[in-house]
Amino acid sequence: MAVVFPAWTPSAPLQPLSFDWSSAAAVELAVLRLDLIDPLISGNKWFKLAHHLLSAAAVGAEGLISLGGAHSNHLHALAAAGRRFNFATVGLLRGEPQDTPTIADLQACGMQLHWLGYGGYRTRHQPGFWEQWHERYPDFYPVPEGGGGLPGAQGCAALLTQARQQLASLGWADYDGWWLAAGTGTTLAGLLLAEAGEHPVYGALAVPANHGVQQQVQAILHAAGRPDSGYQLLDASRAGFAKADAELIDFMRASEAASGLPLEPVYSAKALMALRRQVEAGYFARGSRLLFVHTGGLQGRQAALSRYQQACSAQPAGYTDS
Ligand SMILES: Cc1ncc(COP(=O)(O)O)c(C=O)c1O
Repeated sequence: MAVVFPAWTPSAPLQPLSFDWSSAAAVELAVLRLDLIDPLISGNKWFKLAHHLLSAAAVGAEGLISLGGAHSNHLHALAAAGRRFNFATVGLLRGEPQDTPTIADLQACGMQLHWLGYGGYRTRHQPGFWEQWHERYPDFYPVPEGGGGLPGAQGCAALLTQARQQLASLGWADYDGWWLAAGTGTTLAGLLLAEAGEHPVYGALAVPANHGVQQQVQAILHAAGRPDSGYQLLDASRAGFAKADAELIDFMRASEAASGLPLEPVYSAKALMALRRQVEAGYFARGSRLLFVHTGGLQGRQAALSRYQQACSAQPAGYTDS
């Protein structure tokens, strides 16, 4: 029997979250646990993919084709969604063939992989890039890198309703803003569309400042006919995208132990660490209430920690990470 991608989105629990640094600043936190919505189509991915998959189904696409790296949370969710909802999937990968736990999962889901090399991957924004893939896979629906663009953001607007429905369970009548990791800014843009200026949205940049997140957020808002306002982007990338350091890993482990919230070093731990920095600097008035979005990505946690361990053991004796 055909399984159709549902028009509803699974519910993410909103839970209280507290650390010694948030209590000391009298800032109350709650976390929207997107990591808990589904074992495979997890985190912000279900929301970012929803409108793309509904469009693919509406045009009768045979499959889905998209791009990403060897640890991509996006391709991981896309491959799982394809298997569950009867779409064949094709992944166009950055770099040379390599074996990672993510790649093994993509293959287990039946995703057809094409490694583009680094140079080939850089041509993805050039005109004509998609023509060859369209010729090869004519009935496949192209999903933009990371599930981005306006449809991706529109799916993330559902986060607002989900959080608001649960505020009363925390004893909150209202809140003072959202805090979440930003990679392309699509999830943040979805919250902006839903908030329409009612509450500010703070994006903790998991990528360096020159990665064009602001431009991507602007483009989505422009496409939706909305003003470019209501948000702030703050640096959280530390040494660079997906780069970990001892302070980050120690912070992540201590935060997990203190709260029971599982984190990963690429997005959620960096976002939380940037939040601690801002809270400790007095960025939020005492009594503020913030919604922290756990955007998922836990499928890549172990591999990210292994990369960090390998990088540490490759460093020469006497090296310090300062
Ligand atoms: C786990 C996780 N969190 C956050 C993000 C950033 O989301 P966005 O690209 O919508 O800014 C990503 C990337 O999509 C991600 O995989």
